Amino acid sequence: MTDQTTHFGFREVPTDEKAKLVRSVFDSVAGKYDLMNDLMSLGIHRLWKRIAVQLSYVRHGEKVLDLAGGTGDMTVLFRERVGDKGWVVLSDINAEMLSRGRDRLIDQGVVEGIDYAQIDAEKLPFPDNFFDCVCVAFGLRNVTHKGDALKSMHRALKPGGRVIILEFSEAQGALFKRAYDLYSFKLLPLMGQLIANDADSYRYLAESIRMHPNQEKLKTMMADAGFERCDYFNLTQGVVAIHRGYKV
Ligand SMILES: C[S@@+](CC[C@H](N)C(=O)[O-])C[C@H]1O[C@@H](n2cnc3c(N)ncnc32)[C@H](O)[C@@H]1O
Repeated sequence: MTDQTTHFGFREVPTDEKAKLVRSVFDSVAGKYDLMNDLMSLGIHRLWKRIAVQLSYVRHGEKVLDLAGGTGDMTVLFRERVGDKGWVVLSDINAEMLSRGRDRLIDQGVVEGIDYAQIDAEKLPFPDNFFDCVCVAFGLRNVTHKGDALKSMHRALKPGGRVIILEFSEAQGALFKRAYDLYSFKLLPLMGQLIANDADSYRYLAESIRMHPNQEKLKTMMADAGFERCDYFNLTQGVVAIHRGYKV
């Protein structure tokens, strides 16, 4: 990799093309995104998301940014916690994902106390010291300049605010890893083809997970971006990790 190139899954691509490639993945999968999440994880992603929200310590009345929020799972959970006096912004760079999320929330009757923003995680258009919590669930992996995104999140948080990053990470244990690789590289693209008519996007999913910084590397990147008391929690043997950091 050079300054001019980056990875898109296992491919090396010009840095300024990655966002476009990521967009085409989510344009393609948006319609089947929620169904595929349930099938791929056997519904376990719902539990991971609940645990991440619990670890955020978000309280009644707080302001939360759900970054790369897609179809809004995290927003619904945060909205329950912040109550009537709180506020949640569901944001995503992709208009298709965001519009699916908005329709879904409206259908569920989740309307008050939520706003929507089509924004890039690397350049948050919010004032300094604004949110009590910024959360990014399964989104950071897709961002081209992760360090810039982390710095932008830090800037937009109030002192005392928390960042929560729920993301695929490095699975633990040789035997488990072998089974997980088999599942990721053989079964996932097949499911993607059968259900979403798109094997490539699910191949990208498996590859992008392997290219994402592991638990310790991401923790270091968070500290480099200015976060303090950074820690992480492995779930499902490290298939996903929840990283948490504070702005002091
Ligand atoms: C796997 S989905 C996660 C959606 C949701 N957070 C969830 O957990 O179900 C990843 C999302 O990241 C968004 N995304 C990718 N790059 C982004 C960026 N630079 N800024 C904001 N969102 C981005 C995609 O459009 C997509 O909706």
